[in-house]
Amino acid sequence: MTWAIRPATSDDIPAIVDLVNAVQRPEERTTVEIFRHEEGMRRPDEAFARFVAIGDRGMAAVAQTQNSHTRPRHKFSLSVGVRPDSRRGGLGTELERRLREFTVAHGGTELTAMIRDDDVGTRAFLETLGYREAYQRFEMELGVSEFDWRRFERWRNRLGGLRLFSLAQATPVEEHLPKLFELSMKLSGDVPHPEGAPEYTIEDFQQFARMPGFRQDGLFIIADGDRWVGVSGVVCLEGRPAYTYFTGVDREYRGRGLATLLKLATIEFVQRNGIAAMRTTNDTVNYPMVAVNEKLGYRRLPARVGMKFMIE
Ligand SMILES: CC(C)(COP(=O)(O)OP(=O)(O)OC[C@H]1O[C@@H](n2cnc3c(N)ncnc32)[C@H](O)[C@@H]1OP(=O)(O)O)[C@@H](O)C(=O)NCCC(=O)NCCS
Repeated sequence: MTWAIRPATSDDIPAIVDLVNAVQRPEERTTVEIFRHEEGMRRPDEAFARFVAIGDRGMAAVAQTQNSHTRPRHKFSLSVGVRPDSRRGGLGTELERRLREFTVAHGGTELTAMIRDDDVGTRAFLETLGYREAYQRFEMELGVSEFDWRRFERWRNRLGGLRLFSLAQATPVEEHLPKLFELSMKLSGDVPHPEGAPEYTIEDFQQFARMPGFRQDGLFIIADGDRWVGVSGVVCLEGRPAYTYFTGVDREYRGRGLATLLKLATIEFVQRNGIAAMRTTNDTVNYPMVAVNEKLGYRRLPARVGMKFMIE
């Protein structure tokens, strides 16, 4: 097998999307629109490299590494995707070598690749290169179309004097984003995360709110008077399960079932939109959130594993 490896350009995006979709599971498929939007979210002060390998039949592989302004700069992510018909010829190894070189040149000391626990091939590839398992996160799925509402009849009554509404109802939405940002940041500091909670800026948050799949009517808030005390939201992308990106309740309001009520509001929303399933990812030590999800009927999917390479 022969290939020419070169840095990717923006003209490569359609072929990269095609390749990523050939390598990823169907529920993780992307589109040129989503891909370009994510490209737009990268900041000039982040170190980033992407290579493509071109073979006789077109693009054979894509691989990238980057750090993020939301995390310590020495931590880099890594992903490598090789078309099935171009595997086991050393291409993945060569791409990882180039990315590691780039990472070192940009002050990186850690490379982390996320894989599914049942992906033995990718695990073997990474272990051969010296990566080791660092942490696991649960992925969970709920079959929304068969959700049993009988256990949660008249659930809105359980709000007591609190109000539940969607972001779309908090008009004008743009003016309410800083309040939502403040709440989300306060609560996300309480989420156990193996890499530390990411530190987002209000600009990141505003950009996220313009992302394809973000739904103002799929983000629910619970308020006590003017005080916002809980939030849960889903992203809905065509052909994929709806994805809960965040659920949180203010410390003073925990233990009253509010997270369950917020999640019920999102389940109702997802069902109304004709989407069959919802997913979420939690750290393995986030017992309260996992317990809420299990009570609602979520089942566990193979874990997501963080595979790390420490650069000496
Ligand atoms: C993992 C992946 C990138 C490997 O690409 P590749 O070009 O086939 O890798 P290489 O040829 O360089 O493999 C190097 C070594 O890794 C190991 N390896 C790679 N794939 C393996 C597999 N499926 N089973 C067992 N060992 C494997 C072998 O030791 C191999 O050497 P060998 O072929 O001489 O035995 C490719 O299979 C892929 O794209 N997988 C899905 C993508 C993915 O999940 N990426 C996200 C995380 S990075």
